[in-house]
Amino acid sequence: MTEKDDTKNKEAPFTAIILAAGKGTRMNSALPKVLHPVAGKPMISRVIASCKKAGINDIRVVVGHGAGLVKTVLEPEGVTFFEQKNQLGTADAVRSAQPETIEGNIIILNGDHPLIEPHDIEGFIRDFKEQKLDIGLVTTVLKEPGDFGRVVRNGGELYAIVEAKDASAEAKKIKEVNTGIYLTRAAILNLLLPEIKNENQKKEFYLTDIISLGIEERRKKIKTIPGARNVSMGVNNQLELAKATKLVFKAHMKKLMESGVMVIDPRNTYIEETVEIGPGTIVYPGSYLKGKTKIGKFCMIETNTFIVDTTIEDSVQIRAGSYLESSIIRAKCNIGPYARIRPDSELLEDVHIGNFVEVKKSKIGKGTKAAHLAYIGDAEIGEHTNIGCGTIFVNYLPNKSKHKTKVGDNCFIGSDVQLIAPLDVGSGATIGAGSVITKNVPANALAVTRAPQFIKENYKPKP
Ligand code: UD1
Ligand code: CA
Repeated sequence: MTEKDDTKNKEAPFTAIILAAGKGTRMNSALPKVLHPVAGKPMISRVIASCKKAGINDIRVVVGHGAGLVKTVLEPEGVTFFEQKNQLGTADAVRSAQPETIEGNIIILNGDHPLIEPHDIEGFIRDFKEQKLDIGLVTTVLKEPGDFGRVVRNGGELYAIVEAKDASAEAKKIKEVNTGIYLTRAAILNLLLPEIKNENQKKEFYLTDIISLGIEERRKKIKTIPGARNVSMGVNNQLELAKATKLVFKAHMKKLMESGVMVIDPRNTYIEETVEIGPGTIVYPGSYLKGKTKIGKFCMIETNTFIVDTTIEDSVQIRAGSYLESSIIRAKCNIGPYARIRPDSELLEDVHIGNFVEVKKSKIGKGTKAAHLAYIGDAEIGEHTNIGCGTIFVNYLPNKSKHKTKVGDNCFIGSDVQLIAPLDVGSGATIGAGSVITKNVPANALAVTRAPQFIKENYKPKP
């Protein structure tokens, strides 16, 4: 290698080639394997995100099975797609990514190894550059190496990779395995790739053969780079998918607990890593917190709550069995048990939404209460108003149009009232229990639509 090459090696950027054309037969699923979510995020998106965070901009994804769907899902991620028409093996997949158009360095990764972290990739790149390698093969040591390709050494030096299917009983005992991650100079890859043949059990073009081919060419510097266990964690079936999800939850939960969040039973609590929680908040078992959810300090999230894309400010109680979606809950609210907050709702400070109350696309003012069994949809409610038990905001008309109801401050809406939208109830108004309100109610007025009570004495003849 010349001095000039060394400089080039040090400064050249990395292009990532992510292999994702395989069928994933063992998933037994109609969804392409790499789109299966690990802790709420398609597994391949995790690999892409880690590449980006490690500073790789040119990311090439090799697609094949379910290519259309994979492309649609990954469209917003700014990667380039290359189609591998027939799945003839990992070397053929790399060939599909047109490495001949790449200058500089290449890192090859599998789309089904979702637990790789940015710092793993940064570490591999550092090792590769420091050792001035031609090929760096990322390996790890596993107690149970299973179906992984085995790393065969000769006098301690890397010699070849043997696929488990092609391995002798002796080679099968080797615990050091190929993680499927390779770092190489584009020039070297392009030199060796055409030489790979498909003379093996599966009649596939194995990328693993570049190791022995490169070693045959004596002057090539080919070494292993140690990788952590998470890097080798591939997902090939539903069991491994669940395992990967669990590991992501576990790692995030650890961070949360270190920052002062109380999690009563971490093994039975499910918090996606996009979710933020403030210190002093307590999360009970069975809760599933998802997406862009943000929870403040000193909140209580009781058992079996499902919360997605919702902002919850400080000192809020979400009681058992509640379901919240895409909403904003201001400080000191008290919700549930068994409440449902549907998208686009905003509950201002100190609102109380009790059991079996559903709120949809509504804004509810400070200190307002709906303590039991109500439906509040398309509403704007003022401060310190009381919504009685069984009240329905009737927002949906037979012609399928939806209308809004406005209720002012300090109102008293009695039990079992139906407010037929569009409707405006002024501040300070009182509505008698059981009323069906179809006309606007002025401020401070009383509205009742109940039929007067009728009494017939001695209605039941004496026996
Ligand atoms: C491969 C390696 C093995 C390594 C393991 C790590 C080979 C021959 N073997 O085995 O040494 O220990 O990964 O997980 O490389 N793919 C394509 N097109 C194809 C074939 C595969 O895109 O034609 C993709 C798959 O979608 C997958 C990746 O390449 O993302 C690996 O393929 P897979 O069939 O899972 O290889 P393994 O048998 O796991
Ligand atoms: Ca695999």
